[in-house]
Amino acid sequence: MINTNSISAKTHEFLEKEANYGAHNYHPLPVVLTRGEGVHVWDVDGTRYFDFLSGYSAINHGHCHPRIMASFIEQAQRLTLTSRAFHSDQLGIYAEYITQYFGYDKVLPMNTGVEAVETALKLARRWGYEVKEIPADKAKIIVCENNFHGRTINVISFSTDPDSRKDFGPFVPGYEIIPYNDIKALKIALQDPNVAGFLVEPIQGEAGVVVPDEGYLSNAAALCKEANVLFIADEIQTGLCRTGKMLACDYENVRPDILILGKALSGGTMPVSAVLADDEIMLTIQPGDHGSTYGGNPLACKVAITALQVLKDEHMAENADLQGEYFREKIKALNHANIAIVRGKGLLNAIVIDHANKNTAWDLCLHLKDNGLLAKPTHGDKIRFAPPLVITREQIDECIEIIAHSLKNIG
Ligand SMILES: Cc1ncc(COP(=O)(O)O)c(C=O)c1O
Repeated sequence: MINTNSISAKTHEFLEKEANYGAHNYHPLPVVLTRGEGVHVWDVDGTRYFDFLSGYSAINHGHCHPRIMASFIEQAQRLTLTSRAFHSDQLGIYAEYITQYFGYDKVLPMNTGVEAVETALKLARRWGYEVKEIPADKAKIIVCENNFHGRTINVISFSTDPDSRKDFGPFVPGYEIIPYNDIKALKIALQDPNVAGFLVEPIQGEAGVVVPDEGYLSNAAALCKEANVLFIADEIQTGLCRTGKMLACDYENVRPDILILGKALSGGTMPVSAVLADDEIMLTIQPGDHGSTYGGNPLACKVAITALQVLKDEHMAENADLQGEYFREKIKALNHANIAIVRGKGLLNAIVIDHANKNTAWDLCLHLKDNGLLAKPTHGDKIRFAPPLVITREQIDECIEIIAHSLKNIG
């Protein structure tokens, strides 16, 4: 059912069409967007909003970044897809660029985030058998409670979110789930000699921006090294300057054995993901073992190079760090009775709403929308605040006013 209280007839028409003909696998805010530029999006009625979700952190560069658009259009008019049956003049250039950018021997290009996660898991298992010499079909991957790594049957096999799993079984074996941010639990789990990898989000994004204790990632990486287990970082949401450094792992000088990137790698234009690793791991996969029709397509390669270059040229990590710090300070200073927790790093932030009414976070998002800011609750009581990384201090001030004003409605 669509709440028609504060929406125009035009918006209503779009919502009806989507509800009638599209699967109901999402519950979006009732706003229909038609244009984006920088930190702003516009709806079909011409109303402008601040985008505080940034396509779940895919829009780090801001909407329709001019340099990324120029690359996209130029390449789209030349060559978009060869499949991997043939070479393109872009893949080698991109592979060299991204491996040097992050300091790895090789890249394996994919499209969506979850495909890159699947790829990393396959690589870890293959490495486990061929290099670590784990007995056939015994390889195990350690994962964390409240993880989010995507939606395939394999990946939800180790989800702890009941909504993600209900009636989708039977599930894929070979995973051990331990509490997040718990070094002792990891140490115990690593005692099993059949463990090939430890898959972890440096900050748990979907769980509500859960930041682990300082030292967790570096200790975890050290323990993995000691146990001859691959440390696999899913930086799909945290990477590419979102948390105030190029990678969230950079905060603890951790170099993952396998690095997974996605989302903002294409500047928000198309699904582009990547798995980076050194030869000992990557060369365990040979022709025919794994692939993807669109993975590494020339359009993706061209756009990803520009997106990566823009992150550095425009100092987006520094801005995310600066504005994020300022944003959290300002939100905390509101001292609002219903904001139980403010947390985050860089411009990946969340507030946890404490209110007797379970719908308060959703209601607050509706008020925010009515006041010109788009954000979305996660897991009921948490709201993520993750604007594009090009946001200015003045814009943050404007957004704080919108948030303060909206909060008055939820007392
Ligand atoms: C940490 C993490 N991993 C994987 C994914 C899945 O990415 P995709 O939706 O592109 O498959 C997401 C998406 O939100 C994510 O946040």
